[in-house]
Amino acid sequence: MGYKTKEWRQNMRVTVDYNYMMTKSLGDKGISDADLRAVKGKAEEAFNYVAENRGRDDLFMGWTELPYNQDAIVNDIIATAKVVRKKFKNFVVLGIGGSALGPIMAFNALKHLHYNELSPKKRGGPKFYVEDNVDPVRMAALLDVIDPRETCFNVISKSGATSETMAQFLIVADLLEKAGVNLPDNMIFTTDASRGNLMKIDDKFGGKFKKYVLPDGVGGRFSELCPVGLLPAAVLGIDIKGMLAGAAYMDSLCSKPNVAKNPALACAVLQYISMQQGKNINVLMPYSDNLKLMADWYCQLWAESLGKAVDYAGNTVNAGTTPVKSLGVTDQHSQVQLYIEGPFDKVITFISVEKYGCEMPIAHGCEDIPDVGFLGGHTMQELIQAENKATAYALMKAGRCNYTINMPEVNAFTLGQLMFLLELQTAYTGALLNINTFNQPGVENGKKATFALLGKKGYEAQKREMDDAPALDDKYIV
Ligand code: PA5
Repeated sequence: MGYKTKEWRQNMRVTVDYNYMMTKSLGDKGISDADLRAVKGKAEEAFNYVAENRGRDDLFMGWTELPYNQDAIVNDIIATAKVVRKKFKNFVVLGIGGSALGPIMAFNALKHLHYNELSPKKRGGPKFYVEDNVDPVRMAALLDVIDPRETCFNVISKSGATSETMAQFLIVADLLEKAGVNLPDNMIFTTDASRGNLMKIDDKFGGKFKKYVLPDGVGGRFSELCPVGLLPAAVLGIDIKGMLAGAAYMDSLCSKPNVAKNPALACAVLQYISMQQGKNINVLMPYSDNLKLMADWYCQLWAESLGKAVDYAGNTVNAGTTPVKSLGVTDQHSQVQLYIEGPFDKVITFISVEKYGCEMPIAHGCEDIPDVGFLGGHTMQELIQAENKATAYALMKAGRCNYTINMPEVNAFTLGQLMFLLELQTAYTGALLNINTFNQPGVENGKKATFALLGKKGYEAQKREMDDAPALDDKYIV
């Protein structure tokens, strides 16, 4: 890939167009230049907070440095991936949340949409699966289509204590052992350098597992650009150096503390002002099937980072807006009616693609039926782009806030830019809200209750509390 030349990088630059957020387009439903001026000081503070704390492990801001500090790891990953691609028929990620959504998203974005169905020659590497649930039907379905002996399992868990991932690990380890396989031959661990339980398992095997470190200061949802995402991507033959170069490029485009010169800060400020105006739904709508699962990855990034009860001053703020995933054009026929005529409670972010991975001419035909005939001679790219523009325009005409992230094309370099843009946007928004963007205390209660229900030692009190809770009333069950 030509990301080393300045001209190529500029041609591949991801940009943000927020005209349809502004009063000039939306009248009193929009954001004015005066609104932007009013938060200028706060925006600078948010920028400075992120800039000053870059790389700090104690604040979980190690992700900012991932584009720069992984040369040796990247080379090691590429070497491992080469072996895996030759040796195995399948590559299965066992992980959940931040340990799965990134690998799934990059796979979907950069590989053939029916990758597993291609011939081995066309694929050039193993079939690829990410198991991010504990639905027994799904696990059984996977085991129906893979032979574990011919499969490399990448167990990704920072803690090694995540019930879902470790349940999958136990099932697969048992199958492999029963098949006479030495586990380290078919498993790679991606985990915390010292604290995770996967390290304890590795110790039992004399340190024989191939291991990659999920760095201390990198939380799950900010981990796609570390070995969590880089190993699966490299096994798929994705240009991981290009992805990191893209992230570094976006970082350089976001080095100024003002909205007009920093696309991530612009997005954060627009989202922040919209929140103050009562818009509490944040829709991400890529017009690209390759970017469909980018919306899943983004939903976790946004929701887990910004949904917080208290701010740094100890005030109860119940911060956050609800992320919604949408797909253009598919959801024009499902959700857009609501976006155009429903409550004024949303900001819609489009991701547009200037050049799709291939062209698909629409054949001439049915010339005597005007509703159909006009399509002939155009291309599918023209059609999807026209529908994207038309939807943004229709929303604007209806006074609905929307902005567009433009991608020249979908490749490793632009995907790296997009990820880093959304990560920085999230970090700036958290700083604007004065909350801790990088923790997730809210998910702990559910985890504890699960432990109690399954009889985990140390959770007896929680079990008693659940047993003592008021019984469910039959009258509310219909
Ligand atoms: O973003 C996060 O921190 C979470 O979604 C975690 O990635 C998820 O809970 C899995 O945790 P672990 O990597 O410890 O298995």
